[in-house]
Amino acid sequence: MKPKALTLEPALEPALAAGPPWISRNRLPPHRLESGDWVRLVAGRAEAVGVYDAEGQVAVRLYARSRVPDGAWFAARVQEALELRRRFVPEDTDAYRVLFGEGDFLPGLVADRYGRYLVVKTYSEGVRRAVLPGVVRALARELAPRGIVLRQQEGLEPLFGEPPPPKLTVREHGLRFLADLYHGQKTGLFLDQRENRQKVRELARGARVLNLFAYNGGFSIYALAGGATFARSVDASEGALADAEENARQNGFLERHEGVRADVFEFLNAHEETYDLVVLDPPSMAGRKTQRRAALRAYLRLNARALERVRPGGWLATASCTAQVSPEAFREVLAEAARRAGVRTQLVHEAGHAPDHPLRPEFPEGRYLKFAVLRALEGGA
Ligand SMILES: C[S@@+](CC[C@H](N)C(=O)[O-])C[C@H]1O[C@@H](n2cnc3c(N)ncnc32)[C@H](O)[C@@H]1O
Repeated sequence: MKPKALTLEPALEPALAAGPPWISRNRLPPHRLESGDWVRLVAGRAEAVGVYDAEGQVAVRLYARSRVPDGAWFAARVQEALELRRRFVPEDTDAYRVLFGEGDFLPGLVADRYGRYLVVKTYSEGVRRAVLPGVVRALARELAPRGIVLRQQEGLEPLFGEPPPPKLTVREHGLRFLADLYHGQKTGLFLDQRENRQKVRELARGARVLNLFAYNGGFSIYALAGGATFARSVDASEGALADAEENARQNGFLERHEGVRADVFEFLNAHEETYDLVVLDPPSMAGRKTQRRAALRAYLRLNARALERVRPGGWLATASCTAQVSPEAFREVLAEAARRAGVRTQLVHEAGHAPDHPLRPEFPEGRYLKFAVLRALEGGA
């Protein structure tokens, strides 16, 4: 297939040559492209081929240097992605991210595996039309899943094979979790936190644990598997807490787990009890750059309150999935939160996404998840 051609300002040559995953709308000259059109962008001697989208800030997502991807190209990207997962995803785990968009050189599209099913997600109409069919064919061939579905605002669109059941049980590091691919958050589970949950498991022996913004109790189940004596999961969602209870039951921890339906901000104001280990994993606090300052204030308030709930010598495992908050800014928030809470802290571990969410060095914006473990000690020593 021959792509349409569009010539950009020559000044964009270095930017295009650096291999960006996309070009924003304000960089394009006047044109007559439609969503799903393949387009060859040229700036000076640099060129790249991508898919146009009529909506949104991103106008063209870039895939190849000079030719429109064919079936063999999509198969090669999927094979590369699977090789990485085979190296890093533990054998006793059958829920993980198979394709992480920009990080796997397939901008605008993610694919997650849940047992014998794959869930694909994209927000781009252009990607849906021009990229999805080739990727689905390659995934079907390489993984022979029972079914592949496209996750939409409401429900799932079948793309291959049979649709998944309403809920299925998957395994992460040998632990069992219910996944609702139809209505669950993200594509069902927060797969990006898998290795951070495993870190909490390592810390949890003998601990009483408070898991704030718990969703389906993931961090609690890992903590209990690591020998925690008790875990309390707090979340605003009734459905997520019902799954947390079922996850506790399936893993044999029902007696040691308690779900609390509450707004975390109110819960922290109303409760004085302290814990050996507090986990704090709030939802994204900023969708846009302009909301960054408000997000930093919310992180400060939450982390200070959470540190007040850690008994001296205990741990805070804290996360931020707001892309607009850099790892440095998050560290500054944690330092200020410790001052506010009147405790001394030691940063003993930092991480980001699990390795099935790879990043491209030339695209640091792809990083959104920060995870830190702090030891909290009495202040004023
Ligand atoms: C990033 S997810 C947590 C993921 C979870 N830690 C895991 O490992 O799977 C954030 C959770 O916060 C919950 N939530 C959002 N706002 C809340 C609030 N104000 N109070 C309590 N829960 C809230 C959502 O229902 C969601 O389950």
